[in-house]
Amino acid sequence: MERLLVFACVVVTAVAVPITFKECISTGGEGQVKSVDISPCPVQPCVFTKNVTATVKVTFTAPQDSGSLKAQIYGIIEGIKVGWAMPDPDGCHSNITCPVTGGNVYTYTSTLGVPKGAPKLRLVVEWSLTGSKGEKQFCFDFPMEIS
Ligand SMILES: *[C@@H]1O[C@H](CO)[C@@H](O)[C@H](O)[C@H]1NC(C)=O
Ligand SMILES: *[C@@H]1O[C@H](CO)[C@@H](O)[C@H](O)[C@H]1NC(C)=O
Repeated sequence: MERLLVFACVVVTAVAVPITFKECISTGGEGQVKSVDISPCPVQPCVFTKNVTATVKVTFTAPQDSGSLKAQIYGIIEGIKVGWAMPDPDGCHSNITCPVTGGNVYTYTSTLGVPKGAPKLRLVVEWSLTGSKGEKQFCFDFPMEIS
């Protein structure tokens, strides 16, 4: 019985949970992001340890057609935006078949690893996907902690 319970807990923590986020687009793109799921993130704000790579899924409605998608991540630390290296910033490699069609719903799937040498701190992460005409296909931010 105890063993069963422990197993059940492990399964639950491995499931992606929708996290609380804020869209950062002020014009023309309201409500583009339907949900953001991060795994593992059993409690919010998400706490990331340096040796763990999290899976991030973003379900969004494309605002317009685009043949290319470029992802960018920034860490915002006390109001200062710092670029966050990504192994593959091409959104067309992230579970999306390009070109995207405006009005359609897509699930962008990527990973988030803590950069080497990052200090322990709390910060806000801003994640965006930019289309071929410079438009934001999505942009959102969420708080996290590096430990
Ligand atoms: C990450 O590091 C912590 C502390 O060193 C360790 O307990 C944990 O098992 C590691 N996790 C992975 C996935 O390597
Ligand atoms: C990939 O995208 C499809 C269609 O948008 C979605 O149903 C599926 O859950 C996504 N897969 C992953 C691993 O995110």
